[in-house]
Amino acid sequence: MDKAQRNYLIVGGTSGIGLAAVRQLAGSANVTVWSRQASGDLPSGVNHDVWDATSGTQPPRVPDRLDGLAYCPGSIRLKPLSRLTDGDFRSDFEINCLGAVRAVRACLPALRRAPDPAVVLFSTVAVSQGIPLHASVAAAKGAVEGITRSLAAELAPRIRVNAIAPSLVTTPLSAALTGSEERREKAAKRHPMQRIAQSEEIGAAAADLLTGRWGWMTGQVIHLDGGLSSVRLLA
Ligand SMILES: NC(=O)c1ccc[n+]([C@@H]2O[C@H](COP(=O)([O-])OP(=O)(O)OC[C@H]3O[C@@H](n4cnc5c(N)ncnc54)[C@H](OP(=O)(O)O)[C@@H]3O)[C@@H](O)[C@H]2O)c1
Repeated sequence: MDKAQRNYLIVGGTSGIGLAAVRQLAGSANVTVWSRQASGDLPSGVNHDVWDATSGTQPPRVPDRLDGLAYCPGSIRLKPLSRLTDGDFRSDFEINCLGAVRAVRACLPALRRAPDPAVVLFSTVAVSQGIPLHASVAAAKGAVEGITRSLAAELAPRIRVNAIAPSLVTTPLSAALTGSEERREKAAKRHPMQRIAQSEEIGAAAADLLTGRWGWMTGQVIHLDGGLSSVRLLA
């Protein structure tokens, strides 16, 4: 299929992992990005529409046929349970889970018109690995993992649905955790791979999932986490 025929929508494609996925895809496909603010960082030719996934407003117009959708907005809210309010839990659920549901719902008719469509959602390593202070985001992303498997079943065999569960990635979202050399080094040492990820590594995986390179995989959560969720080094 040539570039003129393939359409991808990246919600949250102006920053971090989403922007890295957009850069991967833009050379060979038509890419649309939705986010709250336009950005000069987008490659030329990429369309941008304004949408706040938490606002409850009608999503922008979706291309008639969509070959892939990635939903990238998310949150990192680290607090002990005693300081997490009900509002914090609701707000994390809105941006991570309900926003994704709204995006997928809006795109379903257009996805159904494509020959081999795919959806990519984002979880976090803090779902499969208990990490202190992550209760609210782990709860919201746990819901994303549940929806990933449920939708994969509901939409098989027409639409593949997978999620990526990263550990720490250098992006604006994680700036409070990765902003200084000291913090980056400390975080790196917690990972079996002894480093944190670059947004390009995770964005490339999202782009691959969208383009059908992994065409037989659905309902999976891919643990791109430097080994944190599954590997323990000997002391
Ligand atoms: N970075 C990490 O260490 C890390 C770790 C684990 C999981 N993750 C997950 O990976 C995904 C991508 O994270 P990232 O670090 O690349 O994030 P990021 O750099 O903060 O980028 C988020 C993108 O989403 C958009 N966005 C934010 N709120 C939105 C809203 N309400 N409506 C529409 N668009 C919105 C942002 O643009 P606007 O601000 O203009 O709307 C931006 O384009 C997230 O789901 C995150 O939870 C990240």
